[in-house]
Amino acid sequence: MDTLKNFKRSDYCGTLRASDAGRTVSVCGWVQRQRNLGSLIFVDLRDRTGLLQLSFDDATDPAIFQKAAGLRAEYVIAATGLVRERESKTDKIPTGDIEIEVQELRLLAASETPPFEIVENSDVNDMLRLKYRYLDLRRPDMQRAILMRHKITKVARDYFDENGFLEIETPMLTKSTPEGARDYLVPSRVHPGSFYALPQSPQQYKQLLMLSGFDRYMQIVRCFRDEDLRADRQPEFTQIDLEMSFINEDEILAIQEGFIKRVFKEVLDVDVSTPFLRMPWREAMDRFGSDKPDMRFGFELTDISDIVKDCAFKVFSEPVAAGGSVRLINVKGGGGAFPRKKIDSLADYVKTYKAKGLAWTRLHEGTVTSSYQKMLTDEENAAILARAGAEDGDLILIVGDAKNEIVFAALGALRCECARRLGILKKDDYKFLWVTEFPMFEYSEEEGRYVAMHHPFTAPLEEDIGKLETDKAGCRARAYDIVLNGTELGGGSIRINTPEMQETMFRALGFTNEDAMARFGHLINAFKYGAPPHGGLAYGLDRLCMLMAGLDSIRDCIAFPKVQNASEPMTACPAEVDQKQLDELGIAVTVRE
Ligand code: AMO
Repeated sequence: MDTLKNFKRSDYCGTLRASDAGRTVSVCGWVQRQRNLGSLIFVDLRDRTGLLQLSFDDATDPAIFQKAAGLRAEYVIAATGLVRERESKTDKIPTGDIEIEVQELRLLAASETPPFEIVENSDVNDMLRLKYRYLDLRRPDMQRAILMRHKITKVARDYFDENGFLEIETPMLTKSTPEGARDYLVPSRVHPGSFYALPQSPQQYKQLLMLSGFDRYMQIVRCFRDEDLRADRQPEFTQIDLEMSFINEDEILAIQEGFIKRVFKEVLDVDVSTPFLRMPWREAMDRFGSDKPDMRFGFELTDISDIVKDCAFKVFSEPVAAGGSVRLINVKGGGGAFPRKKIDSLADYVKTYKAKGLAWTRLHEGTVTSSYQKMLTDEENAAILARAGAEDGDLILIVGDAKNEIVFAALGALRCECARRLGILKKDDYKFLWVTEFPMFEYSEEEGRYVAMHHPFTAPLEEDIGKLETDKAGCRARAYDIVLNGTELGGGSIRINTPEMQETMFRALGFTNEDAMARFGHLINAFKYGAPPHGGLAYGLDRLCMLMAGLDSIRDCIAFPKVQNASEPMTACPAEVDQKQLDELGIAVTVRE
């Protein structure tokens, strides 16, 4: 193998152009492919900036030509040579006008045949990609996503620095902060039987930093949550985490809008108009069936409970009688696009959201077909279609249930599914929204009590303070989420800043004083020493990257992500550990069947 002795790279491969013709350059990278035409060899050389053609001529230097003949895909080489215009130019790559007439070639490392070809958008199986992630990351689309992530992070650091935020690190080995997921625990060797929790977020620390007078905090920080994976969820993910003192909602939101505007302009050259629309949570649920509505299209929910409450069709009347509701969406253009079979598959789709069924009316080329019309009177049918604003070409989809949450979840998901199937969603149409006035509490069936919807440090809306202990379901929080195209990009709130209110909140959540002191005594005590009014927000950096890069999963903008079952195929973790390590930690493992 050759070395890099007395060699210095002068240029990256993808940056050279016709204007460089005549220069002697030194480049390095990986062999994309080698084409041997007998007396001529062409090698496409790849580095993170793109491809460059190297040219070898048997007549010029047989020794170098021989060496080039031995090159294979993914060999690592360095070359020095003259930039010249190509005979046959191509506009397929940015360096397509030129090639390097190689005068010196160094072979730095050989490569076995890779398990898949290193090309853009390859349809290689995901597990294989992740097992050989270091090769997968060589692909240009992966390189672009990681580069974009770097740029977004850089703009975040610049923007928040310019706005007076200090980057401060907080511990990874901490005490549990509840954010609604399970903790990842780390056993302590020094304190056998005791555990640290990896942070679900730096929530308590950033609040304490406000108490310490740092005024504005930011951190690009890893968070850990043991929860089921989805396309936009990883067990470890990154937040752009922020907290500010002496501030109210309007100012916090305005600073965030400034950031979003800046990052979209600098990274994508997209102008985002501000301020963003704000919508109370209740309205978002009623109109879109979701607390993170996709605002790129309509198909809004419409309540028809009053029309069907006394009808003869029990599927509609019974849910209303039981305190639930019957609602519809009007899928414009769905009449033509969804023939009977496809409507059946939509019915299967809503069942995954626990809906018992899907009633429908299809208006297509002057014909009206329906799953329920014969059960209703002409007046009732006419009233439903009038309420839906139905016209020829529409598809009316109806879900009723005794539980409103099921109606909202099913129709909220269905409107997005219909839009997807209709192909009307454009990834580069960015529709931002603030969802505000979230409920303070939500009822947890699993725990049999009300839990904090955001987290227990969130302040209640001033006019709802009286409801904290008397009307939990009706109590709203000073919490807000930033939503982009149906994805929750970030969330935050104005915090409680008095020990009295924090204690009231813990009581409302069912903690005894002792419980609260044992878990959060540090915070309750700290608040006795002058806590400024404060609030903040955290973005999911992975989600921001995913949406800005037009990806479908956050996995594709994380260098080394986990797969569905929270394992990592490349290093094969989690893994068993030595008995010695367990002994040191005082841990005995019982494997559950
Ligand atoms: P929250 O729990 O809403 O708030 O988290 C903030 C944002 O982090 C992202 N996110 C995730 N991304 C990928 N995988 C996950 N498992 C995951 N979980 C959350 C989302 C989400 O909006 N401490 C509060 C913030 C605050 O109040 O200031 C918090 O963590 O984009």
